[in-house]
Amino acid sequence: MATPVTLIPGDGIGPSIADATVRILAAAGADVEWDRQVAGMAGVARWNDPIPDATLDSIKRTRVALKGPLETPVGDGFRSINVALRKTFDLYANVRPAYTIVPGRFNNVDIVLVRENTEGLYIGVEHYVKIGDDPKAAAESVAIITRHGSERIVRYAFEYAIAHNRKKVTLVHKANILKFSQGLFLDVGRMIAREYEGRVQFEERIIDAMAMHLVMRPEQFDVVVTTNLFGDILSDEISGLVGGLGLAPGANFGTSAAIFEAVHGTAPDIAGKNIANPGALVLAACMMLDHIGDRGRATSIRNAFEGTIRDGLVLTRDLGGTSTTDQFTDAVIARLG
Ligand code: NAI
Repeated sequence: MATPVTLIPGDGIGPSIADATVRILAAAGADVEWDRQVAGMAGVARWNDPIPDATLDSIKRTRVALKGPLETPVGDGFRSINVALRKTFDLYANVRPAYTIVPGRFNNVDIVLVRENTEGLYIGVEHYVKIGDDPKAAAESVAIITRHGSERIVRYAFEYAIAHNRKKVTLVHKANILKFSQGLFLDVGRMIAREYEGRVQFEERIIDAMAMHLVMRPEQFDVVVTTNLFGDILSDEISGLVGGLGLAPGANFGTSAAIFEAVHGTAPDIAGKNIANPGALVLAACMMLDHIGDRGRATSIRNAFEGTIRDGLVLTRDLGGTSTTDQFTDAVIARLG
């Protein structure tokens, strides 16, 4: 029986790369029943809501979504899309794999970043501090790290390593300065790591040194786990090691749903021109197929996709070619055999 999946094509280049992805999955024979929903500006246009209840209800039903990039409207009265999704589905684990397809500056990068998605500095607890007559003399942002949140994300990283036959987990922190919040994360990480001793190696890195090690010798890293802000920054750095945003997929796993997406945004500068690279969303869809148990098709799509890129004959502009989104999609489909 076909697996129901919520499809949110998104804004900007979203509809075009979503169409490309749906075509590739159909050509591969993926047994998926798409429930098309809107969000972002498309949600505002139809329901005056960037994250309409109909879309949330669909994800509650299917528990799996593939999401194109969304434009969050600026202005009062609109809910933040990502916050609404993370809260509703408790999407605590953001997983971003990046690997070398075409050797460039680095030849053997294969890193999976596991970022805590619900805590840290991104909880949105901020305020200005009035001093004298100046209401905005200072500003304060609060970072909350909990034992529960740290335990489940570090455990997620170790379980991911075991399930995907990976050898090492690197925990990234700043406990030397932020002794309480980052210290708690590190303490919990060390405790969980002991449970996996003998099965998965464990190492620790301080965030600033990690940023340097990543650009010096990224091949040494395998699974990396860290808190929200550090994960946000490191995941873009890591995508830059392997060819940029057009090849960077991401997945958000929670207790009640999983949402798969490209790391990039709506790319308004190239929207509607049929030149966007659908790669990141295609690779996100492969992660989705893995998640719903169709690893065979995920692997054949990845092989066709990587083959097309290695071939170098039909590439979109961001990868140095001149082909359109449609031509690139056709080339991947042709390789599916
Ligand atoms: P962006 O990722 O949309 O674009 C940055 C640069 O990368 C642009 O030059 C763009 O043309 C290029 N690019 C991005 N994806 C590409 C692709 N698939 N193929 C070829 N080139 C690609 O970032 P920007 O411009 O900062 O954000 C634009 C909008 O996207 C904003 O409204 C932002 O809020 C939204 N956004 C949404 C995200 C999401 O829904 N997950 C994530 C990031 C941004």
